[in-house]
Amino acid sequence: MAILTILTYPDKFLSRPAKPVENIDGTIQDMIEDMSSTMYEAPGVGLAAIQVGFDQSIIVYDISPRDEKRSLHVLINPKIISSEGTTISEDEGCLSVPDYRTDVKRSASVLVEGFDRKEKPLRIDAHGQLAVVLQHEIDHLNGILFIDRISSLKRGLYKKRIKKMLKQK
Ligand code: NI
Repeated sequence: MAILTILTYPDKFLSRPAKPVENIDGTIQDMIEDMSSTMYEAPGVGLAAIQVGFDQSIIVYDISPRDEKRSLHVLINPKIISSEGTTISEDEGCLSVPDYRTDVKRSASVLVEGFDRKEKPLRIDAHGQLAVVLQHEIDHLNGILFIDRISSLKRGLYKKRIKKMLKQK
């Protein structure tokens, strides 16, 4: 198991759409292990493969990563089948967008289909925080960051801040 480097905005790789996993082989299993350790180490509630430079459709998540009873979930080739309602995800953040949190408009519930690491088909009817986490991580697999879902004014201010920070480095 290894702790991987998490790519951060404005890394162009983050806007790349992930490719579907065709075969859940040893490489994929190893990647899942590394992604999980990386997520818990961060700590974060979710991580998409694209964030660690691997353009395959894999996400790992655990909405209680700090608890003693960890519950790791792995989703391969996840798709949002349907969504309902709207909610404001308060102070949403992302390991790939450091030092920034803001409210994001999301669907209140989503129905997600995908596979677990043993190729078993999964169907998840998600509400609340889980629905938000799944939308956020599946967005990553489509090359979308949460800052792509906020107003252009807010996004502009964030981009300015990052540019300034990068110049100072
Ligand atoms: Ni993220």
